[in-house]
Amino acid sequence: MPCKLEIKNISFAYENKNVLRNISLSIDPGEKIAVMGANGAGKSTLFLNLNGVLTPDTGDIYLDGIRILKKNRKILNKKVGLVFQEADSQIIASNVRSEISFGPINMGLDRQEVIKRVDEAVSYMSLEGFENRAPQYLSGGEKKRVSIADILAMHSDVLIFDEPMTALDPVSANDTEEILNKLSAEGRTLIASTHDSDFAYRFAKRIIVMCEGEVIADGTPYEIFSQPDVIKKAHIKKPVLMTVWEGLINLDIAGNDGKYPVTEAEALEMLTLKYKGKESSQ
Ligand SMILES: Nc1ncnc2c1ncn2[C@@H]1O[C@H](COP(=O)(O)OP(=O)(O)O)[C@@H](O)[C@H]1O
Ligand SMILES: [Mg+2]
Repeated sequence: MPCKLEIKNISFAYENKNVLRNISLSIDPGEKIAVMGANGAGKSTLFLNLNGVLTPDTGDIYLDGIRILKKNRKILNKKVGLVFQEADSQIIASNVRSEISFGPINMGLDRQEVIKRVDEAVSYMSLEGFENRAPQYLSGGEKKRVSIADILAMHSDVLIFDEPMTALDPVSANDTEEILNKLSAEGRTLIASTHDSDFAYRFAKRIIVMCEGEVIADGTPYEIFSQPDVIKKAHIKKPVLMTVWEGLINLDIAGNDGKYPVTEAEALEMLTLKYKGKESSQ
């Protein structure tokens, strides 16, 4: 069952360097969120705190209203899955099948259940035929699929992807985006960090922007990308489609009804509808 994830006033420092400053967020089951912000803003550190690899210095994490204490922190590893930016930092086993088995075995599941979950994850990520291969000799896209399968086999409710498209070729990036959308459509909570505004714009329903360890903006993609100061502070760009659509509105080509398309296909559909409508009424 999807769960609600809340963090209240979290701070975290590596040695003496404050990296997260008093962050509070509430994430509902099934949300589809992009986290943006310059390199070093604290995105990866936030994610590591969310899935229990790191423990906040101050502040609390709640799952479905239950406060996570040191002694039940393992629950975070199970419920919140994190796909690392670098598959090589995540993958530890010497072949793909034992890599994907690692999480379920660690959770103490019986052998049959481990086999079932690994088979499912292999099939979901189209990794049939790769099971006996050594992960270090796979391509970047294949490694990414293995690192996602790792998390799927844990049956986590909240899936976090740290810069999932970075270093992938366009076809692998596209495949990854499709997987993310499919997982979201199945009801899981999805959180992905990215520097790619065009991806964030079409993918996310909500964007959280971080700057120097703080959340500086949290809203719909349209709200976020309408704020030039946020765009500047976070080192992000305005999505191409939003810029083009604003141009079309200014030229009176697109309607100014506050409805913005989020994909090229949607833009074409909206324009076609508008002009076909005009043609048929003439
Ligand atoms: N293991 C670590 N030890 C010390 N400092 C770190 C470590 N990991 C990250 N940092 C520092 O914490 C800050 C935030 O890093 P990070 O969370 O990786 O940001 P982002 O993912 O947004 O690029 C950076 O200044 C980075 O240098
Ligand atoms: Mg990072």
